[in-house]
Amino acid sequence: MNRNQQSRQVRLEKLGAYPFERLKNLFAGHVANTDLKPIDAGAGEPRLALPGFVADTLAEHLNGFSKYPSTVGGLALRQAIASWLERRFGLQYVDPQTQVLSANGTREALFAIAHALINPEADVKPNVLMPNPMYQIYLGAAYTAGAEPVFLACTSDNDFAPDLNAVTDEVWRNTALVYVCSPSNPTGWIADAAYFEQLLALADEHDFYIVSDECYSEIYWQHKPVGLLQVAEATGRSGFSRCLVMNSLSKRSALPGMRSGLIAGDADLIARFTKMRSYTGPATPLPLQAVAAAAWSDETHVQQHLAVYRASLQAFFEVYSDVGDIPAGSFFVWLPVADAEAFALAAFEQQAVTVLPGSYLSADESNGMNPGADYIRAALVDGPEQAAELARRLKAVRLI
Ligand SMILES: Cc1ncc(COP(=O)(O)O)c(C=O)c1O
Repeated sequence: MNRNQQSRQVRLEKLGAYPFERLKNLFAGHVANTDLKPIDAGAGEPRLALPGFVADTLAEHLNGFSKYPSTVGGLALRQAIASWLERRFGLQYVDPQTQVLSANGTREALFAIAHALINPEADVKPNVLMPNPMYQIYLGAAYTAGAEPVFLACTSDNDFAPDLNAVTDEVWRNTALVYVCSPSNPTGWIADAAYFEQLLALADEHDFYIVSDECYSEIYWQHKPVGLLQVAEATGRSGFSRCLVMNSLSKRSALPGMRSGLIAGDADLIARFTKMRSYTGPATPLPLQAVAAAAWSDETHVQQHLAVYRASLQAFFEVYSDVGDIPAGSFFVWLPVADAEAFALAAFEQQAVTVLPGSYLSADESNGMNPGADYIRAALVDGPEQAAELARRLKAVRLI
């Protein structure tokens, strides 16, 4: 291996095994309680019925598989996305031609964006700020793009908000990109308008970009989450400068296997990302674009799904603790436990339940603290009855 290959290898080695790989290793050699039907609350995979329009739309557009799709996505899809953004966030106008792209699921886009926006030749490694715990893709993106990840601790002390006030001026000065996740996976925290306003002001002051991961925007307990573009427009910015949002049909429409999402915001950033994507080539197949356009245009199925998620959250907390603990957004519960790995293993062995140790979703802070070490994440993706059963079983777990 020569020097250049080594430096790439070193960056990859900074990444630990992906959380589900770590979970597999944790459970290796252990057996789930065979008297109970297994419950898999580990993955954030919606398991609701396929929306009715999917099969018909797909059948109608099947011959699209015989054509190459464009990377940006067809105009019909980008128009459907722009209209949804306008309706959902009360935006005056989103230009489907210059401010919107199709993504093959947001995971790839959240990863690739760091590579498009960060200078790999900077004298000092640029900082990429992210919540801690976080969706692990932000971390992977920062390391592989040659940036320095900076963790914003999300703890119960600050209602799980990534703490912007804890960041020093020195860190801000060298910040290239900030990832926000609202509603948050895994904590369920939702950014309010004031949070986005502060972040936008900091972005102007220190010249960085904001990527707002809003994949769970349609899954909330009481208050519909605000979005970054909405706050950007309300505070008088023209053209969503410095801002990109990502959203996904995986959660909104319970279509995780379709791999379809959106990227929207600042036209300059979209143009840069488009150029990179024209080489990396994550194009959405035409029949799937047709289904995606139908999904962004329909709210009935989204409301039906929301009712199921709310009923599941309510059912879970009626059994587990107090309904007052219900997270503001997402379908995850983030539960304090004495020892995350020990709890996850005991839940598997005693109760045939799979949950994710919070430590697999978080990183050690510079002070050695890990904000996920004493939490587990469980996904309520199988409806209210299963959620209540999950709560009963988690309550029965005993750490020996
Ligand atoms: C916070 C967050 N962002 C993005 C994604 C990616 O979703 P997809 O690639 O299915 O759009 C997920 C998936 O679990 C997630 O939890």
